[in-house]
Amino acid sequence: MSLLSATLLGTHFANPLLNASGVHCRFNTELDELAASAAGSLVTKSCTVLARDGNPEPRYFATPLGSINSMGLPNAGYQYYLDYAKAYDYAAGKPLLFSVAGLSLEDNLTMLAAIKAAATPAIVELNLSCPNVPGKPQIAYDFAAMDRMLDAVSRDYALPFGVKMPPYFDIAHFDEAAAILNKYPLVAFVTCINSIGNALVIDTETESVVIKPKDGFGGIGGDYVLPTALANVNAFYRRCPAKQIIGCGGVKTGEHVFMHLLAGASLVQVGTALYEEGPGIFTRLNAELTTILQRKGYQSLDEVRGKLRTL
Ligand code: SIN
Repeated sequence: MSLLSATLLGTHFANPLLNASGVHCRFNTELDELAASAAGSLVTKSCTVLARDGNPEPRYFATPLGSINSMGLPNAGYQYYLDYAKAYDYAAGKPLLFSVAGLSLEDNLTMLAAIKAAATPAIVELNLSCPNVPGKPQIAYDFAAMDRMLDAVSRDYALPFGVKMPPYFDIAHFDEAAAILNKYPLVAFVTCINSIGNALVIDTETESVVIKPKDGFGGIGGDYVLPTALANVNAFYRRCPAKQIIGCGGVKTGEHVFMHLLAGASLVQVGTALYEEGPGIFTRLNAELTTILQRKGYQSLDEVRGKLRTL
């Protein structure tokens, strides 16, 4: 076992890093580039039953502090990613996660039935938190709908899976969301966080919004979200002791990965920084994380995970 080894659902990962779903994972060519990179694993673009072009462009904009996007789930349809998952070389040692974001409960059950029937080793991450489809509120902000979704998926899919959550901002909401997640033992991991939804970036020169969909409203990532992401990782790590946590949000250095691990993450996803820097970022992040771990005398990620001190 090497210094950076990680596990999720009993599966071995050479290191804890992977892309955030949505970044560099819409097409097979991009997925292949992630597979060839220094990432420990990769996740497919959140898919729907039918292929989608997504929202009108421009729909992603980078700022000095991160990014705003309103992509609107552009994806090639679940069958495309299922074909990729069937052909994928698992023996090469890089686990594959399969992100699912149906526009309804029925759509999710349809896709999950096909994924189950294919019986690949891919691990499902069910996205309950896309903020960018007009007219489709984020499921995880509607606790009754989330409960119904997890109940139905647990019964029908009946295999361990993970959920991609939006950020919460109130202790009562951490408590309520965690209590629902804890009702479902098959929810084996919790990915925190999706972008902070429905923010607004304004260009003062043009006196305009910077993305076209939804009058400029979109999800923000990057530096803007790191402390919120860490809080959500730690909140769910504390409240869901039988589940694993995947950290996502604001990671652009090895030190940020280390923070997510301290907060309780088993794996760590990279979004905005991957978009800006490309898959070569994983080599740099692994090197920076290794330097920190060695300087502090850690022998494994197990020694770090969740060891955040309070005052
Ligand atoms: C998008 O495609 O709009 C992003 C997906 C997400 O945030 O879940």
